[in-house]
Amino acid sequence: MGTDLESEKWVEVRPFTLADAGVIASWIAGPAELLMWAGPGFAWPLDDPQLAAYAAESGRLTWTGVGADGRLVGHASLRLDAGGVSARLGRVLVAPDARGQGYGAALLTRVLTVGFAQLGLKRVDLGVFSHNHDAVRLYERFGFRLDRVLSDVEHINGQSWSALQMSLAKAGWLGPIE
Ligand SMILES: CC(C)(COP(=O)(O)OP(=O)(O)OC[C@H]1O[C@@H](n2cnc3c(N)ncnc32)[C@H](O)[C@@H]1OP(=O)(O)O)[C@@H](O)C(=O)NCCC(=O)NCCS
Repeated sequence: MGTDLESEKWVEVRPFTLADAGVIASWIAGPAELLMWAGPGFAWPLDDPQLAAYAAESGRLTWTGVGADGRLVGHASLRLDAGGVSARLGRVLVAPDARGQGYGAALLTRVLTVGFAQLGLKRVDLGVFSHNHDAVRLYERFGFRLDRVLSDVEHINGQSWSALQMSLAKAGWLGPIE
């Protein structure tokens, strides 16, 4: 696993602003992709007012991932709990044409470094739909483990989706790659 993480793509994270909203929204092709990415928190079509409200949520840190060439490649957020001890990782997204190249791993490395090393979090948790295998594998590579399954929590296109609840304690975090 260490070798995988060391071969990651370079990515910088900067605070998400509405200037990035159009690009981020263009990466989501329809209602099912929106639900897969963000759960039920947004309504299709994703628009600036929804993203502005999301970015302004109290206790939520939001980032845009920027590649070495300056291109926007990703997005992620951490919603801090009231005590600042744990946070929920969410809205992890890589530009469709940049997937499978290590940007997702690079983005998570940055965000988890902020969470564990800078904010001093003890635990990060997340929810991911059980059929989102690419995302589940990515989280497992970082040491996230399954806590419980919420069965049939969403219904779309005649299908029921179940959500995995996963978490990573600081002790299980592999650390920054630098
Ligand atoms: C889930 C998601 C963020 C993953 O991002 P990504 O950039 O594709 O992730 P990575 O490139 O780091 O890893 C994906 C795969 O590519 C592989 N990979 C990484 N670098 C590679 C390279 N240079 N060449 C070939 N494969 C590579 C990884 O090993 C990994 O393989 P695996 O899935 O077999 O384990 C992305 O698919 C996405 O945005 N999905 C839609 C939104 C979503 O569902 N978000 C999650 C919500 S919970």
